Amino acid sequence: MKAVTGKEMGMIDKYCIDNIGIPGIVLMENAALKVVEHVNLYLEKEHPLPIHAVIIAGKGNNAGDAFAAARHLFIQGKKIELYCLFGKEVLTGDAKLNFEIMETVGVPVKYLGVNATKEELCSDIEKAELVLDGIFGTGFRGEIQGIIRQVADAVNRYSRHTISIDIASGIDSATGRTSEACIKADKTVTFQCPKIGQLVYPGADYTGELIVESIGMPRQAVEYIPETTTWVDREVVRSLIPSRKAEYNKGNCGKVAVVSGSTGMAGSGCLTAKASLRTGSGLVYMAVPSKLINVCQTVVPEAVAVNLTDSIDIISEKSLNEITELLRKCDVAAIGPGLSSEKGLYNIIKRLAETSDLPVVLDADALNIIAQNTEMFGAFKNQVVVTPHPGEMSRLTGLDISYIQDNRTEVAKKFAALWGVTVVLKGARTVIADKKGHVYINSTGNAGMATAGSGDSLTGIIASLVGQGATAVYAAVAGVYLHGLAGDIAARCKGEYGLNAMDIVENIPAAIIETI
Ligand code: APR
Repeated sequence: MKAVTGKEMGMIDKYCIDNIGIPGIVLMENAALKVVEHVNLYLEKEHPLPIHAVIIAGKGNNAGDAFAAARHLFIQGKKIELYCLFGKEVLTGDAKLNFEIMETVGVPVKYLGVNATKEELCSDIEKAELVLDGIFGTGFRGEIQGIIRQVADAVNRYSRHTISIDIASGIDSATGRTSEACIKADKTVTFQCPKIGQLVYPGADYTGELIVESIGMPRQAVEYIPETTTWVDREVVRSLIPSRKAEYNKGNCGKVAVVSGSTGMAGSGCLTAKASLRTGSGLVYMAVPSKLINVCQTVVPEAVAVNLTDSIDIISEKSLNEITELLRKCDVAAIGPGLSSEKGLYNIIKRLAETSDLPVVLDADALNIIAQNTEMFGAFKNQVVVTPHPGEMSRLTGLDISYIQDNRTEVAKKFAALWGVTVVLKGARTVIADKKGHVYINSTGNAGMATAGSGDSLTGIIASLVGQGATAVYAAVAGVYLHGLAGDIAARCKGEYGLNAMDIVENIPAAIIETI
């Protein structure tokens, strides 16, 4: 699904109004009706009548949505308390019009600091089943200050259930940055397209359950803005998973070479190989130092373990010819899990880049080794996917981890463009960026996946999809989604604490079944 900034959404709104002729007040009415639907859904489900909702309005169009929603709830006979944080003289356009209609209908209005006190508001919030947040929408920038800050704090402290209109007040819709005081919604009803700021952290944390509702905008209005950010959901991914024809044999389903392992790190490559097999690869080869051969064959009996006899504890340059030969008969190589960061490995990866024309997925130690000289990315002849976590991205770029985390989409985008690779920047809401500047934000996954070996399994899934014919970018997008979904399925029975990487691997088939 296309994700937009608030500014882009404003342009789509304007296109609807100016080029299609749908008046803004109609869009606002549609938006308000969707909000009312969700308010009623919650109230009816959770609370028998009579209900009591507190609605808090700011001064922009988000407040206009709140005024229209307040009118509908009032007409429906719901007990509501509408609090305005600004006087009506500051309202303009459709927000002003909706305020006037609401006044004519007879909705009582409490003006904070004029005919209502903060204590009254807090008490009303405590009594209410629900708070509807219409303080700020996509027009919010910077910090919530003064009395509004106190209101936001009171909502977070006393509200039993908060629904935010379009976006929780205090989130920057473009970046996901949050004001120090920010409404923490249980649910957000957003209109037409998800906003980037509510998909990435910290904004995602304040969004609660995200509901995307159509408000009657025609397709040409939404498509008028080119899609540069995609929210990766099932609809997106199901079309990206390579098809599997009835007449296929294992040779048609992709041959993956996993170049991995060092003494003490045999598990990494095993997880990668097993994940490739569970994703559907026809053949998986594991090139590992000779000390690991037995364990690899035991843990992944379906893989062909290539015994690099000249490499004992770690892969040595003496095994280069053997690995080059192996890559020649494969469709894709996954390089890096558990390799160790021995200096000699730099030359091995460089030679593989220079001599092989395979697409590659580079992870873990391969990235740490390339971080010594990122120019090496230029040597790869085919598509490259890199799968760094923020620490590895920090080594690759020299940027602080905190800076990377605050600017995830931008960092991934710049790195992808600079080196012409597909970047998978791992973490909560993994970001995928292609070299043309398109960004994908993943919707699946949970905190249980922050566990050793989780990344190794992702490498195997992506490599498998490339081997089955997906492009690097689509394999990365689908792979990240399936990996997260496999983790979500695993968490349904294991919970987030006891979830191990092999649980993710074992649930890849279920994730594929749920997706296609
Ligand atoms: N502190 C105080 N006021 C602020 C701050 C801040 N940090 N940031 C923005 N504002 C002000 C703006 O100057 C503007 O007057 O708040 C108002 C923004 O109001 P919004 O409702 O967020 O923005 P607007 O563009 O009017 O409406 C967008 O309308 O289509 C609906 O709900 C939908 O989110 C969408 C909203």
